[in-house]
Amino acid sequence: MVTESEVRKALGQVQDPEHGQSIIALGMVRDLEIQGGKVTFTLALTNLACPFKDRMVNGAREAIQSLEGVKSIDIYLAEMTAKEKAALTREDAPKSVAEKLNDVKHVIAIMSGKGGVGKSLVTGLLATSMRRMGHKVGILDADITGPSIPKMFFKDGARPEASPMALLPPKTRTGISIMSINLLLESEDQAVIWRGPLISNTIKQFWTEVLWGDLDYLLVDLPPGTSDASLTVLQSLPMSGVVLVTSPQNLAGMVVRKAANMVRDIGIPILGLLENMSYFVCPDTGAHHEIFGKSNPEDMASELGMPFLGCLPIDPLITSLCDRGEVESYPGDLFEPFAGRIVELAPAASSPKMQKHSS
Ligand SMILES: Nc1ncnc2c1ncn2[C@@H]1O[C@H](COP(=O)(O)OP(=O)(O)OP(=O)(O)O)[C@@H](O)[C@H]1O
Ligand SMILES: [Mg+2]
Repeated sequence: MVTESEVRKALGQVQDPEHGQSIIALGMVRDLEIQGGKVTFTLALTNLACPFKDRMVNGAREAIQSLEGVKSIDIYLAEMTAKEKAALTREDAPKSVAEKLNDVKHVIAIMSGKGGVGKSLVTGLLATSMRRMGHKVGILDADITGPSIPKMFFKDGARPEASPMALLPPKTRTGISIMSINLLLESEDQAVIWRGPLISNTIKQFWTEVLWGDLDYLLVDLPPGTSDASLTVLQSLPMSGVVLVTSPQNLAGMVVRKAANMVRDIGIPILGLLENMSYFVCPDTGAHHEIFGKSNPEDMASELGMPFLGCLPIDPLITSLCDRGEVESYPGDLFEPFAGRIVELAPAASSPKMQKHSS
């Protein structure tokens, strides 16, 4: 018959990736009972939303089931008390534990030269579509002074949870991880009046101190233009590529060239150009109206030497769903082709160096 010490020894091989120690050493295994080959215990996590929960549970199962005499395994999950969590935080803990643990395969920034062309909306719809395709997705809202991502996804607000080592980003209804300054403020209307360096540091911390876990795509919603904040993102995050958003206006065309030049100067691939608000489909007649005038984004993309991803219409349903925090309910058929294209282009753009991020 299997004994308690054999089970403890086997569980001693299972690591908590967040703390880099075994679940036995960290005191996470509680109420261990063995009755006639049936093993039962509670795994006390630092946080029930821990992104490594499944990894630890599966690891524990695998470790025990090979022991002779084990017939069944029941693992219950619990959360440590605040005191227990605090005890786990060592004085000398390295600052960027999250950075070492996160495994983010592709980081894609959504950028435009001009404000209000629909970057945040494209970020939200892209994340929604990628999630529907089955990818693990996160959004880092790098617009510190004008954050608009949380409002698009969370009807009733949300808060990141703090584990002893890092911030856990809240998840949306369909499971997209989100980090934004607005999730940390007491009220969403509170203004952030910070100078460039503080803004840049906050963006860096959203990368280094947030436990994103394993992600296929982390989308970064940039503020408008080629400001400090955009530069910080492009230079300090391991970018796979940038999606440029424009709208049908000469001015937008000129500034998109500026943005493209900046991205190229830094040496980051541009995945493609997307034109938003290109036309409106009249619900009565089905006729297409080019409200902001004619444009030629395809030519602009080829002149700039980048793929053309397509045109998005003006759709009042998008605006109302965004305002209600329900962007994930937007029907997929319109945006999924763009998302599919970006998914195809991103792996090719990522160099192996950019795919690491696990320790
Ligand atoms: N195709 C569209 N159809 C309908 N409404 C849209 C569309 N694109 C954007 N909008 C709306 O236009 C407004 C501006 O869009 P959004 O906030 O995404 O732009 P932005 O480029 O991120 O702006 P900023 O530069 O201020 O960050 C939002 O209210 C959004 O819901
Ligand atoms: Mg925006």
